[in-house]
Amino acid sequence: MVLAPLRPALGDVEVVPMRRRHLRGVLAIERVVYPRPWSPGLFASELSQGDSRRYVVALAPLRDRPAFEVRALGRRRVVGYAGVMVGAGEAHVTTVAVHPEEHRRKIATRLLLGLMDGAVELGADAATLEVRVANRGAQRLYAAFGFAPVGVRPGYYAETGEDALIMWAHDLRTPEYAAVLDRQRARLADPGGASGAPDHPVPWVVGRVGLPDDSGAPGAEG
Ligand SMILES: CC(C)(COP(=O)(O)OP(=O)(O)OC[C@H]1O[C@@H](n2cnc3c(N)ncnc32)[C@H](O)[C@@H]1OP(=O)(O)O)[C@@H](O)C(=O)NCCC(=O)NCCS
Repeated sequence: MVLAPLRPALGDVEVVPMRRRHLRGVLAIERVVYPRPWSPGLFASELSQGDSRRYVVALAPLRDRPAFEVRALGRRRVVGYAGVMVGAGEAHVTTVAVHPEEHRRKIATRLLLGLMDGAVELGADAATLEVRVANRGAQRLYAAFGFAPVGVRPGYYAETGEDALIMWAHDLRTPEYAAVLDRQRARLADPGGASGAPDHPVPWVVGRVGLPDDSGAPGAEG
């Protein structure tokens, strides 16, 4: 068990709707954090279905970066992103990812706040997601947003044969759920590690840089 180092929350992060111009930054993270990254075409297809989807990115100011990088990337860089699809009153979280250099700085918390607001706007009363059974850090994050485990999909992640834990959050339109989100908002300025959760590293993240972009449609990584 590795204790989480206390990390200052990244305060000046802005969560905005994902646009095509963000895809370069999104894909750079996607290729590092997932064993089977989504293709650019898959993201573009999701973005084209705006009436049933919400995709958001977290942008942070580019500080202490060489001038050429600022010229190439603009003043802000994508440090995370998340997405949800909504139909028949149910939201399905399709992806949540944060650049590994910025983990435990409340970026996913910010993204999920934006995502759950978006899901409610699109008419969701409940939300579900799949998460790798070994991904205990993500499970803790989702639990803080009211998601509870309800079952397992064996072998859901075809590329590794891993099982998915299915989680659900209910009653999204109630004052009780609004209070869940308010508690998370109130924690945004806390340092990473403040919840006391030991750090559960994401094993497949290490050494994933430079994977070929030959992916089709993998299982959702909510
Ligand atoms: C899971 C992931 C999105 C979390 O992003 P993050 O920005 O680091 O999360 P936050 O800083 O908002 O974490 C909020 C809380 O969630 C829990 N948490 C998040 N990551 C954790 C980890 N690795 N280990 C233990 N707890 C964790 C903690 O309770 C944390 O609060 P704390 O730091 O005050 O203790 C990030 O690790 C990631 O991108 N992983 C690779 C992709 C992935 O697994 N996505 C989920 C697919 S289902």
